[in-house]
Amino acid sequence: MLSVLLCVLLCACVLLALRLRASRGHELPPACKGSLPLIGITHLIMADNSKVWSLMESVGKDTMKKGGVTSSRIGIDRFYFVTDPEDALTIANTCLDKPRFYKFGEFLIGQGLIISSGSKWKRHRKLLNPAFTASVTHGFMETFNRQAEKLNTELAEFAGKGPFEATYYIQNISLQASCLNTFGTTSFHDEELFKQFLETVDQAMNAVIQRFVNIWQHSDLLYKLSGLKKKQDVLAKTYTEMTNRVIQKTAAALKEQHNYRNIVEHKTGAASFLEIMLPLRENNSLSDQEFKEELDTIVGASFETTAQLLEAILILVGSHPQVQERLYDDNDFRMMQIVGQERDVDKEDLRKLVYTEAVINECLRFQPTAPVLPRCVSQDVKLKNYTARAGSLCFILAYGIHRDPVWGPDADQFRPERWLEPDTLPDISTAFIGFSLGKRSCIGKMYAMTSLKVSLVHLVRKYHVMGDHNKLQFTLDVTLKPVKGNEISLLRRKKDYL
Ligand code: HEM
Ligand SMILES: *[C@@H]1O[C@H](CO)[C@@H](O)[C@H](O)[C@H]1NC(C)=O
Ligand SMILES: *[C@@H]1O[C@H](CO)[C@@H](O)[C@H](O)[C@H]1NC(C)=O
Ligand SMILES: *[C@@H]1O[C@H](CO)[C@@H](O)[C@H](O)[C@H]1NC(C)=O
Repeated sequence: MLSVLLCVLLCACVLLALRLRASRGHELPPACKGSLPLIGITHLIMADNSKVWSLMESVGKDTMKKGGVTSSRIGIDRFYFVTDPEDALTIANTCLDKPRFYKFGEFLIGQGLIISSGSKWKRHRKLLNPAFTASVTHGFMETFNRQAEKLNTELAEFAGKGPFEATYYIQNISLQASCLNTFGTTSFHDEELFKQFLETVDQAMNAVIQRFVNIWQHSDLLYKLSGLKKKQDVLAKTYTEMTNRVIQKTAAALKEQHNYRNIVEHKTGAASFLEIMLPLRENNSLSDQEFKEELDTIVGASFETTAQLLEAILILVGSHPQVQERLYDDNDFRMMQIVGQERDVDKEDLRKLVYTEAVINECLRFQPTAPVLPRCVSQDVKLKNYTARAGSLCFILAYGIHRDPVWGPDADQFRPERWLEPDTLPDISTAFIGFSLGKRSCIGKMYAMTSLKVSLVHLVRKYHVMGDHNKLQFTLDVTLKPVKGNEISLLRRKKDYL
C-alpha cells in the first residue's frame, strides 16, 4: 500500500510541475481545510472512499466560513470549492462542461444530457426541452397515481409493525414509473430482473465514485487494466440489452402503424418520452445511438433521484410530527381539503398543494439529493473576489449554499414554512440548487415535483409516518444515499377522518 502511495505521489509531483507552469497567474482563494502543499486534499480523498461525503460536508462548511470560495488539489487537478450563491451562478452559467470523471458513468447512460458537453449538449438540450413541458408531464399523472397506490398496497403489511427499510419498495415503484413514462412499458414486473437492474445501477454509481476516488484510475490505461472496467462492462451489457430491446420493439410497433405522429397528438392517454422523441430520430436530428442514450439518461436521472428524495422526505417528515400534521390537515393548505381521502391527484391539485411543495423544497434544501455539482473551468472565470483559472475544476457545494447566511439565522433548521414567507426567502435562483442552477439545471424538475406530490398525498393520507433523521448516515454515490438510520415506521390513519 505504502509503495503504491509513494509511486502515485511521485507521478503526481511530476505532472504537477508541468501543470503548475501552465496554470500560474491569478491569485488563489484560501486553501480548504486539510489541504497540504502540492497534494492538496488527495490524501483525504484516497484514504477511504466511504468518507467522501463527510469530506465534502466539511469542505462545504469550511468554504462558507472562509467567505464562499476555497481551493485545493485532488490528484493533478486544481479544484475550486464554491458556496457563495452568486459565484455559484457565475460558474454554473459560464462553465457548461462536466469534468472528465463524468465519463466514468458513460458505460451506463452513454453521452446523454447529463454527461455530454459543448455543442452536442447545447443542441440536444434544445431538442429535448419540448419533451419536458407541463402538458407532457400532466400526461404522466395517471401513472404516478397508480404507482403511488401500488406503493401504499405494498407497504400495508408493515403498518403497525415497527421500523423497517422502505428503500427497496420505493425504488421499485419509482423505477417502474420511470420506465412506463419513458418507454411506455416496463419489464420490471419480473422480480428477478428488477433486482438485477437495481444492483447494476447501484454498483455503477458506486463505481463512478470509486473511479474518482482512486485517482490512479483516472488514467484510461490503468483503468482498463483494473478489475473495475471488467465489472462495469458486464453491468453495462445487462442494462443496454434491456433498453435496446424495448426501444426496438416500441419503435417498430409504432412504425408499423405509420402514424406515430397521430398517436402522439391524438392519444388521450399518456405518450411516453420514447413516443414524443421518436420524430427526432426519424428526421435524423438524433442518431439511433444518441436517441437510445438520451432515453437511458432519462431513466437513469429520474428513478434513483426521485426515489432517494421520497425516502428522505418520509424520514424528515417522520421526524417532524408538526410538519406532518400540517401537511395532512392544515387550515390553509390541507391535503384533505384539496384532494380528500380517496380520489386521484389531478393536475388542478398540483398548484394548490402549496405546503406539500414547501415540504419537498425544504427536504431538498436540508438534505440535497445531489449535493456536489462538478464543472470544468475551461476559460478564466471572473468571480467576485477571485478569477478561477482555466483548466481547473469546480465543485459547487449545495451543503454550503443551502446554509448560507442569506437563508437567515435558522438556516440549520428544518422549517418548510420558510418557503411560504416571500419577504424573507432568499433569491432561490442562486441560493437553492437542489435541481442545480443556471442553464444546465435539471430538465426533469417538473416531472420530479409532480411525481413527489402525488406520492406524498397518497402516502400521508393513508399512513402516519415516523422516522429519525438524526440517526441518518450517508454515503456519496453520485447521489447522497442513506446507509444507516433510514428505517421508518407506519401507522394506518383512521379512515373516518372528517
Ligand atoms: C428529486 C429528483 C431530482 C433531483 C434532485 C435532480 C437533480 C438534478 C441535478 C442536481 C442535476 C445537475 C446534475 C449535474 O450537474 O451533473 C440534474 C440534471 C438532470 N436531470 Fe435531474 N433531478 C431529479 C429528477 C429528474 C427527473 C425526474 C428527470 C427526468 C425525467 C431528470 C433529468 C435530468 C437530466 C436529463 C439532467 C441533465 C440536464 C443537463 O445537463 O442539461 N432529473 N438533475
Ligand atoms: C469577498 O471578499 C470579502 C472581503 O474580504 C469577503 O467578506 C467575502 O466573503 C468574499 N466573498 C467571496 C465570495 O469570496
Ligand atoms: C415491485 O412492484 C411490482 C408491481 O407492483 C410487484 O409485483 C413486485 O412484487 C414489487 N417488488 C418489490 C420487491 O416490492
Ligand atoms: C426534426 O423534428 C423536430 C421535432 O419535431 C424538430 O424540432 C426539428 O427541427 C426537426 N429537424 C429537422 C432537421 O427537420
